[in-house]
Amino acid sequence: MASSLLNSSVTRVSQWLASPLRPRQYLELLNPLWAEQSCGRIEKIQRETDNAVTLVIRPNHRWQGAVSGQYVRLGVDVDGVRHWRCYSVNSAQRPGDETFSVTVGRVNGGRVSTYIQDTLRVGDVIALDKAMGDFVLPTDATAKLLFISAGTGITPMMGMLRSLRDSGIAADVTHLHFAPTEKDCIYFNELNDFARRPGFNLHQSLTREGGQHFDAALLDNVCPDWAERKAYVCGPEGLMNAVRTHWQNNELSSQLCEEVFQPVRAEVPAGAGGTVLFWNAGSSTEGAGDKPLLEVAENAGLLPKHGCRMGICQECVVTLREGQVRDLATGEVFGESGETIRICVCAAAGNVTIDL
Ligand code: FES
Repeated sequence: MASSLLNSSVTRVSQWLASPLRPRQYLELLNPLWAEQSCGRIEKIQRETDNAVTLVIRPNHRWQGAVSGQYVRLGVDVDGVRHWRCYSVNSAQRPGDETFSVTVGRVNGGRVSTYIQDTLRVGDVIALDKAMGDFVLPTDATAKLLFISAGTGITPMMGMLRSLRDSGIAADVTHLHFAPTEKDCIYFNELNDFARRPGFNLHQSLTREGGQHFDAALLDNVCPDWAERKAYVCGPEGLMNAVRTHWQNNELSSQLCEEVFQPVRAEVPAGAGGTVLFWNAGSSTEGAGDKPLLEVAENAGLLPKHGCRMGICQECVVTLREGQVRDLATGEVFGESGETIRICVCAAAGNVTIDL
């Protein structure tokens, strides 16, 4: 790691010596945090479980701040290529705070989460984008809240809980949290500390240790006044669907706030897909009907701009030249020449040409 950092610094210095620099770029040579772009130094790495670590990040002067529960795109360089991923701010944030934290869970086969878990070190500098999203506490401090989370879906809620605690607000909060085992449950001890606070009602369900999954009966039992609360849900697709459906069936969708970590996927007919022509690159490849065009392009050796990979940030938008695409969330086939599409959530629906 040390030698790869040295090599990349030497390369950077050589490149910059070969071209005129602005004063800020000379400063960046001395300290990457003086960069013109938003970035942050890893100040602390704390292991939460075997498969989750918390990063405490000290951003540079370009950082515009965050609200607990919002998501931030982190740009991590893996093998010389910058990858962007979204993570929720899980620290209590106040104006002027000099650090913030996120927790990163390991995704099987995930390039970025694996790099963060195994390779990233204290002192490394990563790129940052501005915080976004409205998965945050309501402005009405007296609102009764209901948090429903599973796995790393708890991270934005932990940010909100810490904010409430640090602000001295004794909010009325019921929290249902699901994890396979106690060992897998991030913030297990801190949650139990919260449970001792007045107004905080915690129900942790360890689903491989006798606990049950979310259903309406459990909700009624743990939180009989659930319909009167501002509700937040974040977790795997199964939990999100079950909660969304329950709120829809009770015509309460407007009271439910969702944070999606994994993109929703519709059924795709067998054999869908086609040849994908990358117009600017002048190359083509086969694209399966259920594979996002972003992945198709990456597998073909291209490096399209992207962020969340979930259809949220719009960073991956490109122009469709010919053919049609399938929205992988809804299954809808659409597209006209000149239309823009998000390649992280669209797949080829027949032969297609895109501006990449
Ligand atoms: S990468 Fe964020 S919308 Fe596609």
